[in-house]
Amino acid sequence: MKTYDVVIIGGGPGGYNAAIRAGQLGMSVACVEGRSTLGGTCLNVGCMPSKALLHASELYEAALGSEFANLGIEVKPTLNLAQMMKQKDESVTGLTKGIEFLFRKNKVDWIKGWGQITGPGRVNVSAENGSVTELQAKDIVIATGSEPTPLPGVTIDNQRIIDSTGALSLPSVPKHLVVIGAGVIGLELGSVWRRLGSQVTVIEYLERICPGTDEETAKTLQRALAKQGISFKLGSKVTQATASADGVSLSLEPAAGGASESLQADYVLVAIGRRPYTKGLGLENVGLETDKRGMLVNEHHRSTVPGIWVIGDVTSGPMLAHKAEDEAVACIERIAGKAHEVNYNLIPGVIYTRPELASVGKTEEQLKAEGRAYKVGKFPFTANSRAKINHETEGFAKVLADANTDEVLGVHLVGPSVSEMIGEFCVAMEFSASAEDIALTCHPHPTRSEALRQAAMNVEGMAMQI
Ligand code: FAD
Ligand code: NAI
Repeated sequence: MKTYDVVIIGGGPGGYNAAIRAGQLGMSVACVEGRSTLGGTCLNVGCMPSKALLHASELYEAALGSEFANLGIEVKPTLNLAQMMKQKDESVTGLTKGIEFLFRKNKVDWIKGWGQITGPGRVNVSAENGSVTELQAKDIVIATGSEPTPLPGVTIDNQRIIDSTGALSLPSVPKHLVVIGAGVIGLELGSVWRRLGSQVTVIEYLERICPGTDEETAKTLQRALAKQGISFKLGSKVTQATASADGVSLSLEPAAGGASESLQADYVLVAIGRRPYTKGLGLENVGLETDKRGMLVNEHHRSTVPGIWVIGDVTSGPMLAHKAEDEAVACIERIAGKAHEVNYNLIPGVIYTRPELASVGKTEEQLKAEGRAYKVGKFPFTANSRAKINHETEGFAKVLADANTDEVLGVHLVGPSVSEMIGEFCVAMEFSASAEDIALTCHPHPTRSEALRQAAMNVEGMAMQI
């Protein structure tokens, strides 16, 4: 039996950041991970490989179409899909090895295998070779993440009906890829394959894409993606999918009911959300229960059982790597007796399509529902000089500020590189900035970030460049 201050189950952004912070604070710490590499969903089959393919496919399309030619760069690119996948896999390996290095640096023991809680303060780890390591700890942190939500009638076989992991490693470019779910995964991976040459159809149950995001930004993004060639079937549901060796036959009908239609695809990507993962974790051995959605509840990262903590995708809140990371640090600091809060109002969200969508804080729909008086400042990228010279003028910056105090309540951006710009507003909002604070802050010229400042100025109708 090995004894530690903290045992963390799961080596994703929640688990590995918790382990590193615990090491930094001088705790003895073990991180249990069943996968053969550290980094969880994010590094292995999530954030990082998807961004690698988004980057590569964006450049491919720019070179292939009129974009490079308009800049005076004449090339005739050929797609080498095997190389594109190889560079993605090599980047992922580099990153997962990086976590191993950080574990060594911070004296974290990686216990390889699947962890099961066997009683208060006890975890058994079953390795691939059948051996079992018994661990004991004052505190246990559950960071076991999530898995794709299945869709009844559309069984994922990862041959023709695939989940996001399958869509990150297709052997060839599908002629027709059908995506079920117009959420983040559907739009990002749909974009990758469209850029590489697929016809892409996205089927969404609701009448809008990206539920939860500010509606105006979602509509702008949908228009941009439709212009690029993605077809959207909103308000539709798939009732059946039959896979064969060379494709899938789908039946779909309006979500509200009505005549059904059929659709043929080479591949179908099921991306209707993710659900918490607690399989084999031994929750019953300590009396931990999940809710109807399979989620473990928490209060300041404490589960309902003393000495057991929960962070990341397995618990409430957005399923995002940076949210898991924030919770990891806060949870370990609480275990160490420090006070640390996660500000759930200020967790940014980004969709890494082209244009990108980035947001933080309240949407207009939320403010209306709350009955809060607010002012809107908007600025289009068509009026931003850097965006113009780069020929990337789609989208806008929108700042929502309290009508009485001018405090920034929400920021919603669609446009070029907005993922790199939203952090400015996260910091400003953390310090309860007013729109005027941003408007009076000098921004470098020429940058796209000037559009953010102009949007803040426009809360009082003072934008100078439109
Ligand atoms: P995970 O990363 O899922 O890690 C949990 C780990 O626990 C896994 O490695 C699993 O093997 C291990 N585990 C589970 N049970 C046990 C057990 N009993 N014993 C041992 N180990 C166990 N988020 C973003 O913020 N930005 C993005 O761009 C982004 N892109 C994404 C793209 C895709 C395609 C997907 C699928 C997700 C993406 N996400 C993104 C979401 C992000 O990956 C997750 O929010 C994040 O990984 C959650 O971290 P976590 O530590 O809670 O769980
Ligand atoms: P999602 O929740 O973003 O989108 C799912 C979509 O599927 C929604 O629009 C929903 O209305 C729709 N849907 C649900 N049931 C349906 C049905 N039966 N038929 C048709 N449509 C249906 O989930 P997604 O895209 O699977 O991503 C899972 C998680 O991974 C997200 O919570 C997200 O936070 C995370 N992620 C984050 C990324 C990022 O930060 N850039 C990238 C990829 C994933």
